[in-house]
Amino acid sequence: MIDFHSHVLPGIDDGSRSTEESLALLRILREQSVDTVFMTPHFDAMHDTPELFLRKRSEALDRLTGALPADEGFPRLRVGAEVMYFYGIERMEALPELCLEGTRLLLMEMPVAPWSELTVKELIHLSCRGDMILMLAHIERYFDLQKPIVWERLLDAGVLMQINASFLTRPQTRRRALRMLRRGEAHLLGSDCHNCKNRPPLLGEAQEILCRKLGEDFLAQLNAFSYDLINN
Ligand SMILES: [Fe+2]
Repeated sequence: MIDFHSHVLPGIDDGSRSTEESLALLRILREQSVDTVFMTPHFDAMHDTPELFLRKRSEALDRLTGALPADEGFPRLRVGAEVMYFYGIERMEALPELCLEGTRLLLMEMPVAPWSELTVKELIHLSCRGDMILMLAHIERYFDLQKPIVWERLLDAGVLMQINASFLTRPQTRRRALRMLRRGEAHLLGSDCHNCKNRPPLLGEAQEILCRKLGEDFLAQLNAFSYDLINN
């Protein structure tokens, strides 16, 4: 399984605060059969330049890889970013550099509010221009705030939808998460883990639920789709 969204990198955002905590998160992810972890710290152009962000990210990565015990196997680590949307973001030249490492996938966090027509058009345009594949982060946070037609248009434009494992593990939202995955309204999972206590990785439990409710084949298909995306 791939974790498409995590805050495992130490000391760069509101996620892991130390290399020890990062290692603890990676051990939990490993236990949950996650073999590839995209570490996607928040990038907000209102507070950071891409250059500064990339430098901080590379320093955090060095700290983490320097602390990995050599005699222990860990998931493959790749960097990325959870990019906060702003109107006009499609003109940001460095945008492709913020894609998940080795892919054209751009993980985008959206405002928790109804989106304007200009915003929806910009997302569609970004998705259709061909140099990136747009993936919206934890869509469960904004799902009810948009009209159904907005989601139809984004799906038609090829936008990928990521949900958090907690959307599947919470009993109140589980049925909905399963329905969205089954209908192809959500495509990818992320732990969005920040720490071991309040926001731990829950991908193990999420996979169990998927397997139990939608079957092993469904989980295998979801995994195959995920690996295809990062390998092509
Ligand atoms: Fe996140």
